[in-house]
Order: sequence, then structure tokens, then C-alpha cells
Amino acid sequence: MSSHEAGSLHAQGQAPAWLEVPEDVNALLTPIWPATAFKPDQVGDAAAKGVLQVGGLTVAQIAEQVGTPAYVIDETDFRSRAQAFAAEFERAFAHLAGAHVHYAAKSLITVGIAGWLAQDGLAVDVCSGGELEIVLRGGILPQRITFHGSNKSDEELAQAMDLGVDLIVIDSLAEIDQVARLAAAGGWEPPVMLRCSIGIEAHTHEFIATSHEDQKFGLSVADGSAMAGVRRVLEHPALRLRGIHTHIGSQIFDTEAFRHAISRMARLTAQIEREHDLVLPELGLGGGFGVPYTTGHDPAGPAEIADGMAGYLERECRAEGIAVPHVTVEPGRAIAGPAGITLYTVGTVKPVTLDGGFTRLYVSVDGGMSDNIRTALYGADYSATLASRYSTAPPQLARVVGKHCESGDIVVKDEYLPADIAAGDLLAVPVTGAYCHSMSSNYNAIRRPPIVSVKDGLLTVLVRRESMDDLLARDLYA
Ligand code: LLP
Repeated sequence: MSSHEAGSLHAQGQAPAWLEVPEDVNALLTPIWPATAFKPDQVGDAAAKGVLQVGGLTVAQIAEQVGTPAYVIDETDFRSRAQAFAAEFERAFAHLAGAHVHYAAKSLITVGIAGWLAQDGLAVDVCSGGELEIVLRGGILPQRITFHGSNKSDEELAQAMDLGVDLIVIDSLAEIDQVARLAAAGGWEPPVMLRCSIGIEAHTHEFIATSHEDQKFGLSVADGSAMAGVRRVLEHPALRLRGIHTHIGSQIFDTEAFRHAISRMARLTAQIEREHDLVLPELGLGGGFGVPYTTGHDPAGPAEIADGMAGYLERECRAEGIAVPHVTVEPGRAIAGPAGITLYTVGTVKPVTLDGGFTRLYVSVDGGMSDNIRTALYGADYSATLASRYSTAPPQLARVVGKHCESGDIVVKDEYLPADIAAGDLLAVPVTGAYCHSMSSNYNAIRRPPIVSVKDGLLTVLVRRESMDDLLARDLYA
């Protein structure tokens, strides 16, 4: 399209259908806030009224200790979600061959968080040498680590095998030979799984749907690569084939997608077992369980997910005439996402009047697409609340934007905020625990925020704010 005068084409309309004008613009909409987050009501201390608290600290106390922007993790929320997934999968699959939860480190990992997971007995999946290093330093034992990745280096694979990780999930035919070559050289006999793409269109953003045919992950069942992969693994005596794996995508609400995946994976397992006269003891079903970012989302909880998967897997395996394998699932977002909020300080506030006289309030914060790229990258929806005070002003449709040099630098596309929101106010955005810090950048030479955990009134800095020296640490002319 050639350039034209900007006009109604650029105005994106008013609020989206899911966003209702709130009765009380100060209220927290509970499904999307961490377990310990609340705003004290009218009663008692007037100064505390409407001020967001999490982990027993007010946002003002957090900002005073570490400044803004800051990623704040509610430790109680994170650990209870991790434990709930582990316990519900253990319960739901107990009468079958069992199931294990491997936390997907890519969603959020620090050495301190790996320490929580180690203490709480969770296993972990990593997909790079860097993630491997972090979880090892946090005390996760190699036997509790699955090594993933779509283009693993010799160095990463050799390190994983030398450590004796529980499992290597192989992503391509070439990688089978790569693992076999390294295993022979090192004298290792690694247990492996083959990641398969099984032709499922999970209803999520195109960039995070991973099991349809036209994408880079895994061995396609449709083009015969998956079965060829099995034959090739079996030709290498050092490789011990434990089973097949799939991950159909991320932020999936539709339980039908998981049913389809289970059905195809049971069929494929049966086909491999018959063709090669063997038993595959393990089935990897990946992660991808959706979380509510806004009140427009209503996902199932861990108990419902686990029961659904167990029941369906049992039926499908029975229909195929095979034993039910042990199952692994790899939730990341569903554990880390809702446990985290990002705290910002408001700067410039700019009402912009669009065609038809409709005004959108642009509220700038001291971070942006460098600490949360998801809105720009996937068009993700988020919510926000004025966190540092109670407001009696009416709700005003607002857009929370960052301090980066592009108009796509949006943190929250649409939210009702009090019309008197002003510079110096603290603003909190929930459900930023997953894929915000892990995808953060230094765009515009902005220094990355700290990650703090809060619990029972205590704040722990897990990762400190980047300093100017950090920013320049790799610049050899600095
Ligand atoms: N297992 C495998 C093999 C994966 O590739 C992933 C995510 C997971 C488990 C965990 O998925 P989860 O439970 O967190 O949905 N950056 C995107 C998400 C990319 C997910 C990549 N793989 C986002 O911000 O939405």
C-alpha cells in the first residue's frame, strides 16, 4: 500500500469486546493476580487503601528497595503452582504408569528459582547450555533434567551426556547421528526421545504453535521422518530409545488440542512398538497450558488438565492395545506466568483524541518492549492497575506504552485506568512471570530490571538490576 494520510485506518476502534468498564477501577480482578496480591479495602488505615500488596509488602516498599521497573515474583504462588502440577499429575496417573512434571526453564529461570524447584522435588527441562548451567547452579540434579533444543551444538550435547542428564529429546534426523557420534566418542549411552510433529493446529498465536507441519520443530509424522528417525535411532546401539515426544504449542486453552495430540501419539507409539517389537516406556506431551492474562481468559486448572489427559491416554492406549507409558509434561507459563507482576513508574500521560472524538489515554511507563516483548511480538493482551493509591476518578480507556523508540512499544493494549493517573504513580501489570524476563533485551540500551521474590513481608533480590557497567561489559572499547 502506498503512503496515505493517517486517518481512521490507524484508529483501532474502542475497547475490545472482552474488556468491560469496571464498576470500581481500583479493584483487582482476582483470577489474574498472584495468590498473595490484594488491595486493602476502606477499613482501617486510609493511607493503605487501594495500595497493592504482594508477598506481604506494599508496592511502595518494593519500589523503595529496588526501584522500578521490577519483576516481582510471588514465591508462594510460584511454588504452590509448581507443587500443584506435580501433585495433580502424580495423582491422576497413579493408577497408570505415573507422570512427572518437568518445569520448562525457558519460561523463567534464575539460580534462586532453580533452588526452589530443587527443594520442591521438580524436574526441569532446559533447551540450551545456558539454561543447563543455571539449573545446575541452583542444585537441580542431572538425573532431573531433560535436554531439549532444535539446533543443539556438539558442546551442549557432550556436556549433557557427560553429566548424565535424564533424557535428550532429539529434534531432527541429523541430530540422531550427531548424538550417536558424540556418544560413541565419549562412551555414553544416552536415553533419548524423538520429538515428533504430529499435524495439530493448536489455536494459539502462529509463532507459538509448534506441531503443525510447516515449522522447524521435530520429525514430521506426515512426511515419514518420525518413523525413519525411529529406525535410525535403533541402528545406533549406544542410543536408548525411551519414547516419543510432542509439544503442540503454547498458551493453549482448547483441551481438544491435547486430546488430538494424545490420540496421535498413542497411535504412533503403537505403530513403533508393533513394527519394531519393542515397548516404549515413556511418552512426552510437552507443555503449553494456557493462563488467563485478562478476564477474557478462563483456562482449566492442573487437576482438570491432569484428569483429562490421564483418562484420554488410558482410553487411547487401550484402543491401540498397548500398555500406557509413563508420561512427562513440561508446563512453564502455567507455573511462572501468574506468579509474576511487573511494577512500573508512570511518566508521561498523553490523551490522544481519535476520529469520532474518542480519546485514548497513553500512559508511558519506565520500561516497555525491552522487559515485555510479548505484546509487540504476539499481540498479547495484558491488564494493569494503578498500584500506589486509591483513585476516585472515573475509568478511562488507556494504553500502557514504554519508553522505546517505536510506536509498537506497547505493554498493555487496552485497559481502563483511573482518569487521574499521573506521573509518579506506580502501575502493576500482572501475569508477567513467564516469557518476559526470559525474552528481555537491552533495546535502546535500556538496562534490564531486577527480578525479586516476595514472601511473608520479605523481599529477596534473585537477579539485580543491570548497571551501566553491565551494559558496557562486553564493549571492548568502553
Ligand atoms: N516443552 C517444550 C518442548 C517447549 O518448546 C515449550 C515452550 C514448553 C515445554 C513450555 O511451554 P509452556 O508451558 O510455557 O507454554 N515465547 C512464547 C512461548 C514460547 C514457548 C516455547 N516453548 C510466549 O511468550 O508466549
